[in-house]
Amino acid sequence: MADLRAQYQSIKGELDDAVCEVMETGRFILGENVENLEKEIARYSGAAYGIGVNSGTDAIGLALAAVGIGHGDEVITTPFTFVATSEVIALLGAKPVYVDIDPVTFNLDPNRIESKITDKTKAILPVHLYGQPADVERISEIARRHGLRVIYDGAQAIGAEAVGKPIGAYGDALTLSFFPTKNLGGAGDGGMVLTNDAEVAEKLRALRFHGSGGTYAYRYVGYCSRLDALQAAILRRKLPHLTAWTEARRTHAEEYRLLLADLPITLPDETAGSKHVYHQFTIRSAERDRLREYLKAAEIDTGVYYPGPLHVEEAYRYLGYRVGDFPEAERACREVLSIPIFPEMSDEQLAHVAGSIRSFCDQ
Ligand SMILES: Cc1ncc(COP(=O)(O)O)c(C=O)c1O
Repeated sequence: MADLRAQYQSIKGELDDAVCEVMETGRFILGENVENLEKEIARYSGAAYGIGVNSGTDAIGLALAAVGIGHGDEVITTPFTFVATSEVIALLGAKPVYVDIDPVTFNLDPNRIESKITDKTKAILPVHLYGQPADVERISEIARRHGLRVIYDGAQAIGAEAVGKPIGAYGDALTLSFFPTKNLGGAGDGGMVLTNDAEVAEKLRALRFHGSGGTYAYRYVGYCSRLDALQAAILRRKLPHLTAWTEARRTHAEEYRLLLADLPITLPDETAGSKHVYHQFTIRSAERDRLREYLKAAEIDTGVYYPGPLHVEEAYRYLGYRVGDFPEAERACREVLSIPIFPEMSDEQLAHVAGSIRSFCDQ
């Protein structure tokens, strides 16, 4: 699905230097590389402030905590995503309230949000799934009207744009993950919160450092969630390549669109005015499982993101949802198949994947 060794080989000298430089300094937690990375990624993403943390999961949790989400609050979110969003809401003592997805974009359907708002609702937590921005205009408008905070989970969407602006321009905060397979991936765990709100940024700096921001005076009950210098140094060397890597993903996506155009599968949508960064190229097929087996036999790795909707997972059963509550999310779980897409992918590799899908459909 992704060839991390190919990426390393393409910039090995730069990454090796970055690691050695940090080892020479002996400074491993936060520090200059983290501060510079925070500024560079904030600028890249159209936000004023960046706060580096331990993971994309922590980024979401700390962002929610920083805007005051806590016990008894309700947070509207999607059941069709990685578990991190639901998990951090629940760990804060708040309640995930699910809204079904738009079957075309796979993102939270804004038409269904308002009917779920109660006097306990404090925030909306949409995900820019697969690298396709959520409907930021409609969501901002609903949030404004109801006085809600909005935290966007951009773990899969660094570099994406919505309504002509980088996604860091929207909401109270945008969270990123630097998990190794993400579009900008480290050599371990890492994440960042981006925000345009100076107060939220200051609180986040304190929260990631035991609620103190680095002194021995504790303003908040905090976390130990700092980005480390080795990750930051590696990510800083990778960041200047990200635009070219994103363009390569987008070119591969166009090639797939041409090669798969007339087949009985659904290709991913790219919303007009948005820039999709194709963390995943996710097709839909009513015969997903058979197609997946067929591709496996042709030595093609695929992914199912995600095989089950969160509202029926054992850990979230206490919320009281049932099968059938979110039919679009449930259908997506049965039909989605992510096929290989990564910047270093060769024309031959892409043609092999597309040709194998075509021969499956022609059977
Ligand atoms: C949509 C989404 N949200 C959150 C996360 C969590 O990020 P991390 O693995 O860095 O904690 C991921 C990554 O797996 C993700 O894909």
